[in-house]
Amino acid sequence: MRVNTDLKKIASLLIFLLISVLISSCSTSPDQGEEQGGGNLPESFAFGRIATKQEIDSIDIDIMPDGHGLPPGSGGVATGDSLFALKCVSCHSGSGPYAKLIGAFGDTVKAKTIGNYWPYATTVFDYIRRTMPFNAPGSLTDDEVYSLTAYLLFKNRIIDSITVLNSSNLATIEMPAKKLFVNDDRKGGKEVR
Ligand code: HEC
Repeated sequence: MRVNTDLKKIASLLIFLLISVLISSCSTSPDQGEEQGGGNLPESFAFGRIATKQEIDSIDIDIMPDGHGLPPGSGGVATGDSLFALKCVSCHSGSGPYAKLIGAFGDTVKAKTIGNYWPYATTVFDYIRRTMPFNAPGSLTDDEVYSLTAYLLFKNRIIDSITVLNSSNLATIEMPAKKLFVNDDRKGGKEVR
């Protein structure tokens, strides 16, 4: 009986050791992995190439609320009106889910529009230039984007029909919905509830 118990103990010890060895050989910690791989990595994978400044500049087009990043150019309401009829109205008229771009602040429009919701005029330019027309983003010239922005701001009763927009006056336009937003200046930590 005694021998049998000892054998059992030895057998379970062996099984435990075997499992431990198997687990440690399968899982290496990230540090070990880096050490092992790091030494064998080639200088380069010969895959792709470094982007040129021109290529980076062509997609680095974000515009800040203060107008930083706005390109040279200008555009007015009348040109924007014809462009909108030509390139935008097919999707932005009627009652489609994204149809509503126009609805002045205070009007009884249920949808969120540029007039009753957008806090910065520069976002209108940024959004149109980067994404619209939906089926051909990036196809508009900067002057065309200024014109379309002017048209949409005019239709939302934010600017008058003779205002010509450019890189110096677009950011100065005060959007009516801006006052509905509060800056989140919480620091994180205990004061955040
Ligand atoms: C082929 C259909 C189509 C065309 C053409 C089109 N749009 Fe759009 N537009 C959309 C869709 C779809 C969205 C919503 C995209 C989303 O939410 O991701 C949208 C969203 C927008 C928005 C943002 C609306 C909001 O409140 O979020 C603006 C501004 C806009 N389009 C302007 C334009 C302008 C200006 C043109 C013409 C140059 C244009 N669109 C042409 C389909 C189109």
